[in-house]
Amino acid sequence: PDSIGVLTSGGDAPGMNAAVRAVVRTALAEGVDVYAIYEGFRGMVEGGDAIRPMGSHDVGGILHRGGTVIGTARSDRFRTRDGRRQAAANLLAHGIDALVVIGGDGSLTGANLFRSEWPELLEELVEAGELDADVAAAHPHLRLTGMVGSIDNDMFGTDMTIGADTALHRITEAIDAIHATAASHQRSFVVEVMGRNCGYLALMSALATGANWAFIPENPPQIDDWEASLQSMVRAGRRIGRRSNLVVVAEGARDLHGEPITADRVQKILEEGLGEDTRVTILGHVQRGGATSAFDRNLSTQCGYHAVQELLRLGPDEEPKLIGIRRNRITSSPLMEAVERTHAVADHLQRQEYDEAMLLRGGSFAE
Ligand code: F6P
Repeated sequence: PDSIGVLTSGGDAPGMNAAVRAVVRTALAEGVDVYAIYEGFRGMVEGGDAIRPMGSHDVGGILHRGGTVIGTARSDRFRTRDGRRQAAANLLAHGIDALVVIGGDGSLTGANLFRSEWPELLEELVEAGELDADVAAAHPHLRLTGMVGSIDNDMFGTDMTIGADTALHRITEAIDAIHATAASHQRSFVVEVMGRNCGYLALMSALATGANWAFIPENPPQIDDWEASLQSMVRAGRRIGRRSNLVVVAEGARDLHGEPITADRVQKILEEGLGEDTRVTILGHVQRGGATSAFDRNLSTQCGYHAVQELLRLGPDEEPKLIGIRRNRITSSPLMEAVERTHAVADHLQRQEYDEAMLLRGGSFAE
């Protein structure tokens, strides 16, 4: 590639900064110019000051910081062909014909659509007199690699998404704090955690904090009167002197009929059925912010390095790659297959086909 562009897109995730830093420094070490595209796809469509050349110092001091210093934003214009044509023109103004995108499955899908349209977009720009034919001919293809930045850990093709480990630590710390106050007052707490339709954060934080019960989208209670089971478990705990109860609810949790299991619903079950003094804590965006865990810093750094190496290795018209970690090794796998299988899991969960969804989530690419 001529020059590489790097952008973050979708919800911010701790580790995105470490990934950007690694991409910038690896590209520079390989002698390739690298640009940060600020505010995600919106910046790509707007161009101008949103596309900035990066030097090594520009990414200093960000390794540990949560969020994304180059910003992320929704872009309605990038959803239109006009917007994507403008984005192609803005990239080529800097000779950018290779992209590293750090985002969720939606962002990676958008990036792939852009990549597949690239030759036609350039043709249209040349026809409209907005792009020099020689410039277009010199950059016939857009190369693309992606990394998954999301606290939800909800993507096929990587065992861990960038940010999930940090969020899990944050949740664990918060629940530990809740435990102390809950036990002091002999209360029950229902804690709602993020994850969209993935139960990773809820299940792992429940295990890490010794919660009494966890509700997750992938495995709804298999009995109809789970309310009564929950109540009898809490009652039994009180009988043996348990001073507090903790129920973790994933924001996407549902019952067998597809009805949401919300923190409020669980609170009612404990209060109305048992007279438990029950409080609800919705952790919200505190889960996404804050300093990045060592695991996420290192995962992002290694993935960022490999994302650039893969871009340099990719043939001009080769399919985009997803850089992730599987079985403790950094891997490169077909990006769109990972996106499709991720969507298939979500679709199965919506249709309440839980076993099939779990099979898909655990499936692996052919070696
Ligand atoms: O995908 C990350 C995530 O934090 C989810 O866990 C949550 O459902 C969603 O984003 C919240 O989105 P927003 O920041 O737009 O409210």
